[in-house]
Order: sequence, then C-alpha cells, then structure tokens
Amino acid sequence: MNKKKIGKQKGRLVDSEALLEVQKLMSDMPLRKDMLIEALHLIQDEFHYLSAKHLVALAHEMKLSHAEVFEVATFYHHFDVIKENDVPPPPLTVRICNSLTCEMYGAKDLTESLKHVLGEGVRIQPVPCVGRCQNAPVAVVGKNPLDLATIESVQNAVNKKEVCPDIPEYVGFSQYRGTGGYNLFQECNSGKRTAESVIDELKKSGLRGRGGAGFPAGMKWDFCRKAP
Ligand code: FES
Repeated sequence: MNKKKIGKQKGRLVDSEALLEVQKLMSDMPLRKDMLIEALHLIQDEFHYLSAKHLVALAHEMKLSHAEVFEVATFYHHFDVIKENDVPPPPLTVRICNSLTCEMYGAKDLTESLKHVLGEGVRIQPVPCVGRCQNAPVAVVGKNPLDLATIESVQNAVNKKEVCPDIPEYVGFSQYRGTGGYNLFQECNSGKRTAESVIDELKKSGLRGRGGAGFPAGMKWDFCRKAP
C-alpha cells in the first residue's frame, strides 16, 4: 500500500542566513502586505539584486506565498530577480532611455558608445521612458538621472560613484499645513462649504479639462452632481 509522506515541505526551503539578512533589513518596517514593494527595494539596494533565497525568506517573514512575492518582484524591470543558477548583474547599472524622444536625440549611439567606454563592470540597460523627455537623451546611473546625457557625463558619474539623485528643496507636509494647505479640504469635509459652492467656484475659475475637448470642469462636476 502506498503511504503518503506527510510533513515534507515542497518547493524552495527557507535559507536561515538569508532569513536573518531579511529580518535585519526589515527591523524597522511593519510586516504588512502593502509594504512588500518597500521590502523588495531594501533587499535590492543592499545586494543590488533579488536572489531566490532572499525572496523565499521574505515570503516566509511576511507570511505571503512564494508565488505572490515572485510575481511582484518580476513585474517591475528595476528589480533584478536572480534564480539559483543565474549570474548576478554587476553592482552598477546604467539605464538609458530608449523611448521615442531619447531615441531621436541619440540614445542608440550613446548606448553603443558607452558599452565600449564603460567596459564589463557596468551593466548598460536600455529601458522605456524615465519621464524626463524634455531633457533627452536621459541616462540613469544607479538611481541618479542625468539629463542631456553624454558619454562624458555618464562616465564621470560612474567614475565618481555618483549614483544617488540630488533631491531638490521641497515643502514638507507640516510646512504645507502650517501655511494653510488642505484647509479647503477640511472645510469641505466639515460641511463648512457646500458642494454647490465648490462647483460654483470651479465654474468661475474657468478651469477646463485637458483631454482635448477643453470642456469646463465646473460644468462636468455640476452634471455629475445633478445626475440621479
Ligand atoms: S523618452 Fe526618454 S525620458 Fe521620456
């Protein structure tokens, strides 16, 4: 008679060393499902790729299925998932936008030239639009975006290990609140302002949609408000 083996785990097993590394990285982070992408970022930043053993350890730590963690990790091209027999990428990746505007501004030549100049130790990866089309061609060295990229500017950033972006001065939440930010939102929520008065204000402002028709936003809101 065939006896069923019980208690034997299927699939990848949790590597104790990887688990400790994941736990250390996530020591300040709540183990909530919605933090999965943040956790993947932490691992990718630390090891510059996501190994299968770290993903399995992460799934274990967050009480998620292996499939769920692998699905999310492989969905985004900025995450490098490396399975057991794969060769990890070099520590530094230079991403070069190959979408239309950058292509028209010489991204292809830049990519080819950089392959010769930067050599084996740096991975060059053509990627879709990185959202800075007005400054094409754009290269991203590590996480540092370089506008109007040239062979020299990329080489310079690589040599100097300038891999993090310059964060410009910005208004933080408390500063924004301190200067009246969201007051209007609170007035709407508390009933101090009626929906009609907001729509009226919107109509007077002349704000129009930008989908092509330029339809007045206030009128659109008014129609929706009156619809049963
Ligand atoms: S097309 Fe290159 S940044 Fe958008």
